[in-house]
Amino acid sequence: MLNINLSSIFYLIPLYFLVIAPLLRQLFPSNDPPFSPDNASNDDYNDYNDEDTSLNLNPDVLSLDDGTPVTCTAGPDTYRVHILSQAPLVIYIEDFLSHAEADHLVNISLPNYTPSTLYSSSQPQDQDVKTIDKTKRLSDRALLPRDPTVRCIESRARSFQGWKPHLYIERMWAQRYNVSGHYTHHYDWAGTAKGRGGDRISTFMVYLKAECVGGGTNFPRLRRPRGSGWCEFIECGEEVKEGVEGVTFKPIKGNAVFWENVGKDGVGWEETWHAAFPVESGEKVGLNIWSWYQPPRGRWR
Ligand SMILES: *[C@@H]1O[C@H](CO)[C@@H](O)[C@H](O)[C@H]1NC(C)=O
Ligand SMILES: *[C@@H]1O[C@H](CO)[C@@H](O)[C@H](O)[C@H]1NC(C)=O
Ligand SMILES: *[C@@H]1O[C@H](CO)[C@@H](O)[C@H](O)[C@H]1NC(C)=O
Repeated sequence: MLNINLSSIFYLIPLYFLVIAPLLRQLFPSNDPPFSPDNASNDDYNDYNDEDTSLNLNPDVLSLDDGTPVTCTAGPDTYRVHILSQAPLVIYIEDFLSHAEADHLVNISLPNYTPSTLYSSSQPQDQDVKTIDKTKRLSDRALLPRDPTVRCIESRARSFQGWKPHLYIERMWAQRYNVSGHYTHHYDWAGTAKGRGGDRISTFMVYLKAECVGGGTNFPRLRRPRGSGWCEFIECGEEVKEGVEGVTFKPIKGNAVFWENVGKDGVGWEETWHAAFPVESGEKVGLNIWSWYQPPRGRWR
């Protein structure tokens, strides 16, 4: 009896691959057009072949390797890391930038500020679909020119993430929040891993200037860690306002919060829902370092 079952399985396997699967493909063709490097547009952030620069990865939104050597005058990295959560991965980074680097980035951002917009999605290629809604987001933002300091920080962000292949650091933006400046709860990921094959896999939220009261970065769905060691970096005890849930990071110059937006399965982490609380007095400038991950087609399915 057992023998009969086993041998029928041996017949069923080739039957599936040779007959049933092709038949299913005929009956239910995939909605995704096959990717071809010949007709890849700027919208296709697909490094089908890392060596093939003809793929037109968009340098307006991604900090691509353009052959400019990276020279870090800052010396070896001296930041210190503290793991807040493993799933999703959330890591607090002390002194990710030196104060001199933070001051420099604020300085080079000054000529470039325009009001921040909201996107219908967080995909960098859709950044022309914008609206301004001051109830949801009130801040100014500035694209940073890729000077040697910016390139050094791009390289630090790549190294932090283990030089993950197919990961592109997006062009960096400074965000300036005046009194009452804020950004209501939102995700940085778009949920496009399965459809487009790419998504914003991680975020570094770096504080460049923190001369303010308020302006914390709140994650209501993260569990507040135990231990007073964290109270230097997150709101604890009486600092936590009535009704505020989860973890609120205090703005501290040079420090950063790193988190993973999308898991290995390509699904966005609900726990990364976060907000920039209103600045009550003073001014805050933040730096967003987003990483776009675009593996070869099919890897994230
Ligand atoms: C690219 O070209 C191939 C072959 O001509 C076609 O089948 C496919 O649909 C095209 N892909 C896109 C994204 O236009
Ligand atoms: C700020 O930038 C200006 C030029 O844009 C430069 O002259 C000045 O030294 C910079 N200051 C700092 C603190 O980096
Ligand atoms: C923030 O303040 C600066 C001047 O300090 C001003 O130019 C800018 O428009 C203000 N932005 C917002 C969103 O209020």
